Amino acid sequence: MNAMIEKAYLSAAMGFEAARSHSAKGCYDAFASRYDKLFADAQERKGEIIRDYILERGMAGGNALELGCGTGILTERLAPIFENTVGVDFSSEMLELARRRCRNFANVDFLQADVLELELAGARFDVIASLGLMPHIPQKRAIEWARRMKALLSPSGHMLIAISPAPWRLFAFKRPIDEPSFVDLPLFAAYNAFMRTFGVEAHCWYWRPGLLENLLKEAGFSTVRIVKDDLLIIDAGMP
Ligand SMILES: C[S@@+](CC[C@H](N)C(=O)[O-])C[C@H]1O[C@@H](n2cnc3c(N)ncnc32)[C@H](O)[C@@H]1O
Repeated sequence: MNAMIEKAYLSAAMGFEAARSHSAKGCYDAFASRYDKLFADAQERKGEIIRDYILERGMAGGNALELGCGTGILTERLAPIFENTVGVDFSSEMLELARRRCRNFANVDFLQADVLELELAGARFDVIASLGLMPHIPQKRAIEWARRMKALLSPSGHMLIAISPAPWRLFAFKRPIDEPSFVDLPLFAAYNAFMRTFGVEAHCWYWRPGLLENLLKEAGFSTVRIVKDDLLIIDAGMP
């Protein structure tokens, strides 16, 4: 019960930071030191699901890129199964914690950059993974972003985009995450409208799985939808 109250408080504090800092980057910079307390247990489990999926499908072993790596929870699970892993995030404070978490891995590099503008001259990755990034990818810029990521992928590579159920699905509206939802869209819109009353352009975009798949197809990917233990993984490869 105490843990629940603490998490409710931390969630409210995170919303407040978002309002105060006026950007997703500012929000994560301000909130980094509390992120793991709020999310680590859930994200660790999801990181393990992604790692196991990579192992089961024989995708491990080459170079991995992680987008929006945050405090390095997934990075820590990719590092032992890839030759090299690069974690990218635009929040210097989140990256600082990721560097600390992965300090024992000599094959991990971190880069502070905006994934919407990411360019890594000549680099090619076998897996590009992300967990919890999509609410921060604006739909207007998504096609350009997807094409940019495709250019960073080796011809037999996979882009794995993992989407978690929104918090309200866990309470009031529990339903499978890969179903089109008539609940998420208005709730995301209400959240964004609420934030706008503080003068903040909120940074939460709702990605219906079908919409994401269409986008990836338009960018030239073929997609497979995997649901494991409530985590949705869109596995996008070359047709
Ligand atoms: C919900 S957190 C997920 C962190 C981590 N993947 C995890 O599962 O614990 C989203 C992360 O994406 C980063 N992020 C959001 N938009 C980004 C962008 N455009 N470029 C780089 N990083 C971004 C944030 O700084 C934050 O660390």
